Amino acid sequence: MPVISILPSAVADQIAAGEVVERPSSVVKELVENAIDAGATTIDITLEDGGRKLIRVSDDGSGMGVEDVPLALARHGTSKIRSASDLVGVSTFGFRGEALPAIASVSIFELETAAADGEGTATKASGGKIGRAERIARRRGTTVSVGQLFYNIPARLKFLRSSRSEWRSAVEALTAVALTQPGIRFHLTHDGRNALMLPPVTSVRSRLGAIWGGRYAEDLLDVDDVTGAIHTSGLVQRPGDVGTSTRRVFLSINGRAVRDAGIARAVEAAYRSTIVAGVRPSLFLNVTLSPDMVDVNVHPAKAEVRFRDRWSIERAVETAVRRALGTFDSAASLGFRGSAFSFRPADLPTPVDAEILRAEPGYESPLFDSSTAPGENGHEEYAPAVSTAEAPSQTIPSLFQLKRTYIAFEHEDGLVLIDQHSAHERVLYEQFMHTLESGAAPAQRLLLPLTLHLGPAEGEAFDANREYLERIGFEVEGFGGHTLIVNTVPMPHPRFDAERCLRETLDSLTGDRVAGAAAKHERLAATVACKAAIKAGDELSQGEMRSLFATLRDTTLPAHDVHGRSTIVHLTWDEVERRFGRK
Ligand SMILES: Nc1ncnc2c1ncn2[C@@H]1O[C@H](COP(=O)(O)OP(=O)(O)OP(=O)(O)O)[C@@H](O)[C@H]1O
Ligand SMILES: [Mg+2]
Repeated sequence: MPVISILPSAVADQIAAGEVVERPSSVVKELVENAIDAGATTIDITLEDGGRKLIRVSDDGSGMGVEDVPLALARHGTSKIRSASDLVGVSTFGFRGEALPAIASVSIFELETAAADGEGTATKASGGKIGRAERIARRRGTTVSVGQLFYNIPARLKFLRSSRSEWRSAVEALTAVALTQPGIRFHLTHDGRNALMLPPVTSVRSRLGAIWGGRYAEDLLDVDDVTGAIHTSGLVQRPGDVGTSTRRVFLSINGRAVRDAGIARAVEAAYRSTIVAGVRPSLFLNVTLSPDMVDVNVHPAKAEVRFRDRWSIERAVETAVRRALGTFDSAASLGFRGSAFSFRPADLPTPVDAEILRAEPGYESPLFDSSTAPGENGHEEYAPAVSTAEAPSQTIPSLFQLKRTYIAFEHEDGLVLIDQHSAHERVLYEQFMHTLESGAAPAQRLLLPLTLHLGPAEGEAFDANREYLERIGFEVEGFGGHTLIVNTVPMPHPRFDAERCLRETLDSLTGDRVAGAAAKHERLAATVACKAAIKAGDELSQGEMRSLFATLRDTTLPAHDVHGRSTIVHLTWDEVERRFGRK
């Protein structure tokens, strides 16, 4: 007597259903996706008791003819693919012919459908037993009602959460699909009350506005970028807003709403250096790529996909978001969002005024001098660097140092205050990033090499980052027994304390495990920049302020620094005049 027996088909269906249908939100997703595949322009969704009692989805799509109804309810019954090869590049949400039979096997199920007005078919099923198809009169389209989900599977029923929690999950599932289909009208009711009305719109931004309010949608930044064959589009949060509201992550691949931790991480990587560590941005993105680059048939609920070249896709998304944030950085946003003021570093008067720099008595070196070219060995002997005279000579506004911390100046739209440390930190960050990517740093060769004794953890941090530290300008000779001999150091400004900077950098890199070269570059550039930048409390000469100001022209100074503090504050004349009662 064999110990193996074939399960009855009803049991097999229920087991299969377990994979497709986890809770009411899965039913909402499957039915709404079917409606979209049928070309619906309006979809009505009704839930009762969070979907535990009833889920009804009604559409005005193509409907089905009488002979298709039993096939739709049979396992593997699908109109969407004919052969396995159709799976590559499948453009419909459905392709397995599993959803309807799975749902019908675990509920009290009703289907009404018509391929043309008046010529309808109705059928019922309970626990997978399908009743007779009857002719009915109804308009074109389909209505599927799913009552008493899991009524015949107590083990599953037990796992359903409260009405509220199931409701929330269902709304989330519907929102994910609705965001990929702004042109379709959705109407959701819960326990007889209107819950969500989404009129057809032409953009994702408008759809977002209809869901979370116009203000929320307006504050998001557009992403629209093509890298090779990968198009990333949608919206992301402004760096300054990250962490201030509920985090929302809606991602779709070729219009299919999916989860993908890798892509979400790539988006976060794009924000690095503009937001505080630990907070994570909201995103609403769609990635369009050639269908043969993605396998959609890897997850029972079609909630995940697999990529042929994940790395390229993540990098493309990261680049797209970075570009979106970059536009933001250099445009109307340096901390003045909401005001009519628009300030771009490029708007600053061309600031390098060589004559002034030279004439400054006691002035040794600009904080940052872009004219320094790397020598043959990638480094150059240190010489007091002064910008060469090619730079056009234009006026710089008068700069004032306040509290040895801020630089104040007048701009045509108002008064601007810059945090000297944050600004310089940003300048250095961009400079180091450039250096890390291009591989050549202007460095200062020391007459007397520095000798540093390191603890084991610092030594390990040095070993792990040696290549990058050298590119930044710390050229080290020999390293053994925890002793470093440092021959060259970066030269960010005259009072730079190289030894302290290197120590503090190694200290903060201790135990740091960042994967990937790009992430390492950013981490290191940010750390060294922070340690190397002039500090609050450092008194700056006019020449130094001008020099810093000059370099800001080429820098995208974000509204917030890596610690989330403001880097720049703007007081508009409007505001000033109001304070003085002149307006
Ligand atoms: N709302 C609808 N309007 C018109 N036809 C529908 C609708 N829902 C289902 N169908 C038809 O019934 C078939 C079976 O639907 P079902 O959801 O079970 O499978 P599928 O969508 O093809 O694949 P998947 O299991 O991946 O969702 C579909 O292929 C489609 O032809
Ligand atoms: Mg389907």
